[in-house]
Amino acid sequence: MHRIYISCVSFLLFFFFHACESKEKAKTYTIAFSQCIGSDAWRETMLKEMKRELSFHPEINFLYREAGGKNETQIAQVKELLASDIDLLIISPNEAEPLTPIVDQVFQKGIPVIVTDRKTSSGLYNAYVGSDNYDIGYLAGKYIGYQLKGSGKVATITGLSGSSASIERDKGFREALKSYPRIQLVNTLNGEWLIDVAREKVKANASSLRESDAIFAFNDQMAIGSRKALQEIYPNNNIKIVGVDALPGSGNGLEQIANGTIDASMLYATGGTEAIRTAIAILNKTAYQRENTLGTLVIDAANVQLMKMQADKIDSQQQDIDKQQELLAEQEAIFRSQQSTLNTLVVCLVLIIILAGIAIYALKSNWQKNKHLAKQNAEILKQQQQLIAMNEKVKEASEAKINFFTNVSHEFKTPITLILAPVEELLKDNTLSSLLKDQLLRIKRNGLRLMHLVTELIDIQRLAHEKISLKASSQHLFTFLNQIVLSFKPLSIQKNIPLTLENKTTISHLWFDPDLLEKVMYNLLSNAFKFTQKNGKIQVKIEENTFGDHVMIRVIDNGRGISRNHIEHIFDPFYQGAYSTGGSGLGLALVREIIELHHGQVTVSSKENEGTSFTLRLPVGDTHLTIAEKAATLVTDHKLEATGDSHPLIALQTALSPAAQPEKKDHSLKEYSLLVIDDNIEIVHFLRDKFSENYQIYSASNAEEGIKLAYAKVPDLIISDVIMPGKSGIELVKILKKDTRTSSIPIILLTALDTEEQQNQGLLAMADAYITKPFSGSHLEALVQNLITNREELKQRYTSEVNPVGDRVQINTNEVDRRFLNNLSAIVENHLSNSHFNVENIAKEIGMSRVQLYRKVKALLNCSVNDYIIHRRLKKSKHLLQQDITINEVADQIGFSSPTYFATLFKNKYGISPSAFKKQFQRKDHS
Ligand code: FRU
Repeated sequence: MHRIYISCVSFLLFFFFHACESKEKAKTYTIAFSQCIGSDAWRETMLKEMKRELSFHPEINFLYREAGGKNETQIAQVKELLASDIDLLIISPNEAEPLTPIVDQVFQKGIPVIVTDRKTSSGLYNAYVGSDNYDIGYLAGKYIGYQLKGSGKVATITGLSGSSASIERDKGFREALKSYPRIQLVNTLNGEWLIDVAREKVKANASSLRESDAIFAFNDQMAIGSRKALQEIYPNNNIKIVGVDALPGSGNGLEQIANGTIDASMLYATGGTEAIRTAIAILNKTAYQRENTLGTLVIDAANVQLMKMQADKIDSQQQDIDKQQELLAEQEAIFRSQQSTLNTLVVCLVLIIILAGIAIYALKSNWQKNKHLAKQNAEILKQQQQLIAMNEKVKEASEAKINFFTNVSHEFKTPITLILAPVEELLKDNTLSSLLKDQLLRIKRNGLRLMHLVTELIDIQRLAHEKISLKASSQHLFTFLNQIVLSFKPLSIQKNIPLTLENKTTISHLWFDPDLLEKVMYNLLSNAFKFTQKNGKIQVKIEENTFGDHVMIRVIDNGRGISRNHIEHIFDPFYQGAYSTGGSGLGLALVREIIELHHGQVTVSSKENEGTSFTLRLPVGDTHLTIAEKAATLVTDHKLEATGDSHPLIALQTALSPAAQPEKKDHSLKEYSLLVIDDNIEIVHFLRDKFSENYQIYSASNAEEGIKLAYAKVPDLIISDVIMPGKSGIELVKILKKDTRTSSIPIILLTALDTEEQQNQGLLAMADAYITKPFSGSHLEALVQNLITNREELKQRYTSEVNPVGDRVQINTNEVDRRFLNNLSAIVENHLSNSHFNVENIAKEIGMSRVQLYRKVKALLNCSVNDYIIHRRLKKSKHLLQQDITINEVADQIGFSSPTYFATLFKNKYGISPSAFKKQFQRKDHS
């Protein structure tokens, strides 16, 4: 669309400028006019006529030069015009001879030349315009002859002697006089065409001229000058004076005839109009005449009035014409401006039409788009309504679910209480065996944990669904916090983690809901205790901000801290990050909900292995609280309902925390070892209790620790949790199964996540089994036993002959094990002849410690590394003994420095001495 618009506008602009330009382009020709002299009336008349005629041809450029009656000037001017790229030259040469060469040059260059009034001597021109000067002279002669009745004396006043007009008039005059033999030409003076020259010349020759009856001056000006001179000297003379030109206007011929100054004049037309017409005909290449002779006639007293009248008439007509011309020019200017206005209008109109078209098109497409949009809108609206309806249903369903969930959670509380109460009773019995007491304590701890989880779950549900409202009251903050801190004292002493409370603010009272803030503080402090190591420290600080409008309660520990990627999710409900060990992932979510209910904020900053700091920022005063939130404004200091370790969170950690249980030392040697990896210490303890009778137990609380232990101890089986802080159990499996040192250890993954995807992930990572919580202890026991037995059987099957290398051992090994065995085989093979080659050398080359190598070989081949080396040597010796070398040499080649030792070992293994074996072979060979 945009492009169409641009091209239309470009086209119109082109059209517009082109229309304006076409006028300019018509001005194609330049006509130059070189005038011999411009100062006299006759020449002025000629120029006026030319200009008038040219006004009909605006396309013509007109260049005008006048030479002031000087040949040199005129030559120079013609040269200059020639250089100005003229199309045609009109010239009235001052004198014929001097001007001929330059005019010929113009003509020969192909530039058309029109001569007017006077001619050049070569006759090289395209056209001549003017009266026939010979005829003029002739007519004058005839007239004077007639006036003098055939006898008398005459004199002539000529023009410039070299000008053709003068020469030809002279010729004509003399020729006419021939008809009058009694008329004598007695005197000839050169008046140079000028009035004053003629006057002076006549004055100087007055005495001789006095005798003349008539004088023929070659133009009226010289005739007038002659009359004046004669009048001055001989006032009463009767000499007739005849001139040429008969020009109308003041001081010119017609007027002087009328007033009797001169007697007659030969009409000599200026021919300006004709010269221009001829020039245009030549330029337009239309027909024209070469010789354009203008007519002449005698004007004297008899016809002068008529002529004058005619001349006046012509003059007034001429003036009219001039006026018309001016008007025409004005009209033309108006026309031009109107035309350009019209052009502009046309362009605008076309533009408007195009724009209107574009606008209509745009409107139409907009309308269509709008229609489409409206349709889409309607659809969206419909979908929105459907969504709202669905949302409503979902809301109802989730409401129902939540209610159900909360009710069920409540229902849990009773059975848990009924489990805990009898356990408490049973624990009071002093006669209990330590094993039974341990089991009862485990029931108590987990009962308490369950109770805590259920409470948190109910709280968060109620908070999230705005079922808990704030019941703030003004409380003495320090007293409140001190009570809580005091309740943690026993735990602090038990764990040897000092807990301090520091007050750095003058603000004593704060508006809060003590029940809720208590939950917050218990959560934060029990977390701090959970993640702070023995001998660490925990601080609670009360501070205020610069403006004194907020109180900050900080809980700072120097425990293990939270990693960067966990910290941003720490307050998300059910987030199972590094900081949720053993918890539901609800505690911190609950903290945030409660603090936000207080119009405050909770923030955390932490650095791994350095510690964590939680800050509760609570507003001072009560202006931020609504009346409803202040409903219970009893200004009574809150009394903690639970004190000492009666709070479930403290009880949980105080109640003989299993971490505090010393590891039971069992010095009896077990055939097989198990590595248990779980971040839940209860599970570790449970499994330890379960398996420690038959297995050597190693335990770790996270994957990293577990991997290290697996490398160090190379256990016979690993039981690992999947979700743990740091690396997951699946990652652990991937790492251990790829490592030569641990690749053959069966691994059982143990987890609460029982989705198919989770299980597949575990199995894909090459876990040997996947067991979901809750699991049956006996099932796990059977699985452990099975895996170990299977492994043993396989080992037996493939290593019965302690002969893995070269016999293509196909233990149920993975790629890593196979690679290990090949490596081992190659290393041993390469060093068979080296008697100093030992386990140390292999371990170094293979990149394992001696113990790891030992365990690996034991696990895969069920023999020691040394046994393996000896086996390989003896096997090779069998081949060598078949060759033609001595037993000593054989022993040497397989790295036995003592042939006797070799013989003993050989006999032990194959039941035959090497020499007997060699002989046996030789016999076979001979037979
Ligand atoms: C004007 C004029 C006329 C005369 C003509 C001859 O300059 O002198 O009076 O007729 O020139 O060329």
